[in-house]
Parts: sequence; structure tokens; C-alpha cells
Amino acid sequence: MANSYAALSRHYDLIMTSGYYDYSAYARDLVTELGDHRRVLELGVGTGLVCESLLELSGADLRLTGIDHTESMLAQARARLGNRVQLIRQDIVEMAAPSVFDAAYSVGGVWYGTRNPEGSTLCSHLLREDDDIRALKNVSAAVRPGGPLLLAVQQAHQNYERPLPGGLVYAQEVRPEGDRFVKDYFVRKADEVVAHQRCEFRAYPQDRADRLLAQCGFHFERATEDGLLRRYVRE
Ligand SMILES: C[S@@+](CC[C@H](N)C(=O)[O-])C[C@H]1O[C@@H](n2cnc3c(N)ncnc32)[C@H](O)[C@@H]1O
Repeated sequence: MANSYAALSRHYDLIMTSGYYDYSAYARDLVTELGDHRRVLELGVGTGLVCESLLELSGADLRLTGIDHTESMLAQARARLGNRVQLIRQDIVEMAAPSVFDAAYSVGGVWYGTRNPEGSTLCSHLLREDDDIRALKNVSAAVRPGGPLLLAVQQAHQNYERPLPGGLVYAQEVRPEGDRFVKDYFVRKADEVVAHQRCEFRAYPQDRADRLLAQCGFHFERATEDGLLRRYVRE
């Protein structure tokens, strides 16, 4: 399966909660932007870390659903979230959700933005533009008119390594290849590679991405003041 996180899933939480993402900051902005929207879909829910932070900050009436295609990520999400979140194992390209959601979001999930010196970019786990269109149309069909689609923005990709608890080291290597890039995630202990995951992404310059989103029914409204989320609205 393309861009499955199976090889990284055992170490995923350790990497992400050791400085990769500030989940609390994203969750605070999501809560503000979601406002009264209560039925919310996460696109690429992974191990459920965003849902967990959102549930901590939101009222009990928030009804979250998460979709992901990697079983080993969802297994951790189920253990973390129990029956507080509905979890669906499905490829977003094949998603056929009824139009019951008030809003959708992706934080490092199927889609995310990066802030680069030459301008911002939309990164997609889907490698073909027709798959992006199909998947975004699925999301558009699942979100009621007027509902927001919130896409998280993160720092530009770069090569680096940093220590993790337990004597482990996390390293990532990113290599651009035309309108795609390849990202290798490594977890090492001393000289041994204990986990290696390779993902490939499609990268769209922001203006092209916004046209693509508009074609699928989502118009760009604004970015949050701190730049962590881009807000699109379903026509
Ligand atoms: C980097 S993880 C982010 C998980 C979570 N949002 C977080 O912030 O921790 C990206 C997730 O997107 C999922 N994903 C990638 N392509 C997908 C697709 N075509 N359909 C459904 N999920 C997908 C992966 O399985 C992975 O769990």
C-alpha cells in the first residue's frame, strides 16, 4: 500500500511527541476554528494524537470520526481513544462517507502545508493529481455546505537528527524529485537502524493547490494568525 506507515508505527508516538509536532497548539487553533461545528472528520487520523488533544480541550458533545488506511496506526488509535472516536479503516481515495460532517481537518494527515522560503506548498500523501481530485471530492461530499476544511501547516522539510528517549535517535532525510519528494524516516539505536519508513509525497505550489481545492468545492478563506492552519470553506 502506498504511503502506509506500518514500518514506523511502533515508534510513531515517540517521535511525534518528542518535538516533531506541537499537538496542543494545533488543537487550540482547531477548537477555535471549529467553533460550534460538532461532527468532525479527521483525514489521516494515525494513532489518534490530534483527536486526543482535541477531546481534552473540547466539550463532551464533539463527535469525531477518523479515517486512515494503515491498520497498525489505527490499532494504536483504538487503544488510545476507545469508543470516544469513530475510526474507519479506508483509503481516502475510496472513501464514501455520507454528507454528515460539519467540518474536516488534516494535521500532518493525508494533506498538509509546509512553510518554505520560496512560498508555501501543499503536500499530499497521494501521488497522482487525479487521486487528489477524487479524494478531495470525497471529502467535499462528506462535509455539508458552509463547513470548514482545516489544513495544518508545518515547517519546511529538512534533513536533521535528534535524540529520542531510551537511547534512540530519530533522523529524517528529504529528497526533492520534481513535483514530488521522498522522505526517509529512521530510528536508530547506536549504529543499528531499528525502524525505517520511506514515504513519497506530491507537492503543489500554494496557488495551484488552492485552484485544485476550489475545483473540488473548497474555497480558501484565510490562514489563522499564527499560520498553523489554512481554512477552506465548502461551497
Ligand atoms: C504523518 S501521519 C499523521 C497522523 C496524525 N494526523 C498525527 O498528526 O499524528 C499520516 C497518516 O495519514 C495516513 N494516510 C496516508 N495516506 C492515506 C490515504 N490514502 N488514506 C487514508 N489515510 C492515509 C497514514 O496512514 C498516516 O497514518
